[in-house]
Amino acid sequence: VSSQQRQLLALHERVRDLYHHILMNTKVGEEALNYLHERGLNDELIEEFNIGFAPNERGFLVQVCQQDKIETAVMENSGLFVQREDGSFNDRFYQRVMFPLNDPRGRTVGFSGRLLVSKDFSGENQPKYLNSPETELFNKRQVLFNFDKARNEIRKQGEAILFEGFMDVLAAWQAGIKIGLASMGTSLTEQQIRAIERLTSHVILAYDGDSAGLTATERALRLLTDHSRLQLSAVTIPEKLDPDEYLRKYGAEELRNLLQHGRQTPFVFKMNYLEKGLNLENENDRLIYLNELVDELVKVQSPMEQDLYLGQLSERFDITREGLKQQLKQARRSQR
Ligand code: GTP
Ligand code: MN
Ligand code: MN
Ligand code: MN
Ligand code: MN
Repeated sequence: VSSQQRQLLALHERVRDLYHHILMNTKVGEEALNYLHERGLNDELIEEFNIGFAPNERGFLVQVCQQDKIETAVMENSGLFVQREDGSFNDRFYQRVMFPLNDPRGRTVGFSGRLLVSKDFSGENQPKYLNSPETELFNKRQVLFNFDKARNEIRKQGEAILFEGFMDVLAAWQAGIKIGLASMGTSLTEQQIRAIERLTSHVILAYDGDSAGLTATERALRLLTDHSRLQLSAVTIPEKLDPDEYLRKYGAEELRNLLQHGRQTPFVFKMNYLEKGLNLENENDRLIYLNELVDELVKVQSPMEQDLYLGQLSERFDITREGLKQQLKQARRSQR
C-alpha cells in the first residue's frame, strides 16, 4: 500500500464517519434519517452499514479537508470533489444519503449517494444515485456491494443472492437474508463473477420485477452461463416490484418465502420470459418460441433435466419427443 493509498483510505474513513454522524446526531441530517426510517430501515441497519448524509453545501468537505490539512493531491485523487476551472474544489456529494462502498476487507473505498428530494431541494436534472468516480481505491467493475459483510454467511449457507439495487440488499438484510450482493448498477463483470465463485457455487438472481429487471436477469443468466460454472436460479418478483418494495408491501416472511420457494431454473425463467413477447396462439410465434427454447435446451447440462423439459414441450405443443430430439441435435451442431 502506497502512502497515497493510505491517505486516501484514511480520508474515506473520516468522511464516512462524519457523514454518519451528521445523519444520526444533527438537525441537518434529520430529514434524511426520517426518509430512511420511512423506507423501513432501522437504526441498527443504518449503524451496521454506516449510512450517512452529505449536507446541501458544496464547501462542506472542502472545509473539513482544509482543517485537517489534507494534501491537495489527496483531495484531487479521492473522487470526493469536483474541481472548478480555477482549480478550486467543490464537494461532489451534497444533499444525498450516503452509502459507503467497501472493499472485501471492509475498508471504505467509495460512496454511492442517493438524492434526497426535499421541499427546499427538488434535485431537478440530478441523477438519483451518484457514485464515486474511478479512483486509485475505487473500481466500479470490482466492487460488489455487501461483499465484505456477506462473505462468511455466503460460505456457510452455500449460496449468494444477487440483487439489482443495493437498497434491495439492505431490505433483504433487514429481513434476515444476509447473503445479498449487488453490483453498482452495471452488468456483472468478469472480476465480480470470479469473486463470487471463490465463495460459492450457487447464485440466485433476484432482480427487479419490471421489464428492465427481467431483461437484466436474462442477460445475467447468459453471462453467468457463458463465463462460469455457477449453478444458477432466478426469482421473478411479482407485480413489477423490486425486492425492497415487495418486502414493504408483503412483509419479511413473504420475501423470505419468495426467495426460497420462487426459484426458477434458467430454462424455466427463459420460457416465461420469451412467452411474454409472443402470442403462442400464432403458429409463427410458436415456432420462434420452440426454436429459441431448443437452443436454450442445448445449454442444460443435466440429462434428466433436459428430458424433463423435452417431455413438457412435447406434450404442450403436441410434437413428438423424437422430433424435438432431432431439432436438439441440429441445434447442438450449429452452436459448436
Ligand atoms: P430506490 O429508488 O432508492 O429504491 O433505488 P433502487 O434500489 O430501486 O434502484 P433502481 O432499481 O432504480 O436501480 C438499481 C441500481 O442501479 C441502483 O442500486 C444503482 O446502483 C443503479 N442506479 C439507479 N439509478 C442510478 C443513477 O441515476 N445513476 C447511477 N450511476 N446508478 C443508478
Ligand atoms: Mn455509528
Ligand atoms: Mn430498476
Ligand atoms: Mn429497484
Ligand atoms: Mn427500489
